[in-house]
Amino acid sequence: MSFFKTRITELFGIEYPIIQGGMAAGLISTSELAAAVGNAGGIGFMCAIQWADDLGKMEDEIKKTKDLTDKPFGVNVTLFTELDQAWFERAFDLIEKHKVPAIETSARSPEKWVKRIKDMGVPWIHKVARIKDGVKAAKLGADGITIIGSEEGGHPGAERSATSVVGPLMVDMVDVPVAIGGGFCDGRGLAAVLAMGGEAVYMGTRFCASDECIIHPKVKQKMIETNYNETDYILMSIGDPVRAIRTERTQKILEIEQNEGAAGIIQYLQKLHEEEGLSFSGPTAMNTGDTVQGILPLGMVSGRINKIEPVKKIVDDIVAEAETVINKLSARKYWKA
Ligand SMILES: Cc1cc2nc3c(=O)[nH]c(=O)nc-3n(C[C@H](O)[C@H](O)[C@H](O)COP(=O)(O)O)c2cc1C
Repeated sequence: MSFFKTRITELFGIEYPIIQGGMAAGLISTSELAAAVGNAGGIGFMCAIQWADDLGKMEDEIKKTKDLTDKPFGVNVTLFTELDQAWFERAFDLIEKHKVPAIETSARSPEKWVKRIKDMGVPWIHKVARIKDGVKAAKLGADGITIIGSEEGGHPGAERSATSVVGPLMVDMVDVPVAIGGGFCDGRGLAAVLAMGGEAVYMGTRFCASDECIIHPKVKQKMIETNYNETDYILMSIGDPVRAIRTERTQKILEIEQNEGAAGIIQYLQKLHEEEGLSFSGPTAMNTGDTVQGILPLGMVSGRINKIEPVKKIVDDIVAEAETVINKLSARKYWKA
């Protein structure tokens, strides 16, 4: 039996309990990244909403992934309500048509889509930031739950809970396997997740700092330079916060939120949308490399990432370190009076 066998490695048919979460905010989680994570022994998810304007591109990327790997990979469908029912229908149609090996949903309740997903008969995990949402998704039939803490990059949830609290709590609340994410980048993280009762470590930011991730080199460099205490928690005033590396733009947003509240920030976002085409699909500052006026939704763990490396090296190092840590802890002798 593999040292790292869990119900999640069994569910997806992968070697290591390591998941690269779906990421949008520009073109980020593409075929190259998902295939590289799969080839390294974990599972990577592409993110449908990054092709919100043209699902044909998602279809191309799914085909490309199949050319790059014969290992499992998945597509994340972030259930943002800004997209209409027909768009989601089409996304799920393409996932089914191309027999994508795994599905991840996130951001909103998957209730409306449960039957559609279950009929495809592929492993399905749902990601949440709140315990009650995870309990609900498990009841609805999700094969696994991912719980993330507010350390994470992207949309970490309005409760602002810590991974070390919601991780074990989620494990205790559901019978299905749980992946835990938000703030992990290495083998100590994987060992900690297993110690919390999680069955896979779930990461996004770490995989952005890889050779295979297509974000702009300037953004990768910015991640290396960023300290753990140099991210901002923006858009809390409108109840859908984003954690992002501190830039002039995130500071401006915080200032508007503080001085003008939700109404002011909605107006400002509208202006950005009109003037700069700010959206969750298509290229963003993550792709153009604007590290001053851009929003770079990367997690706190940027502060622990010092190198851009190939995905295979990242995964191999995580696995080797976790094994060492677990063996060391198991061999530890406690002094007794
Ligand atoms: C740049 C970026 C964009 C993300 N976009 C999405 C998204 O569109 N949908 C989603 O479900 N999660 C998204 N996430 C969250 C990740 O899938 C994952 O939950 C998170 O990165 C884990 O925490 P970590 O960043 O500390 O590793 C994003 C994360 C990052 C870093």
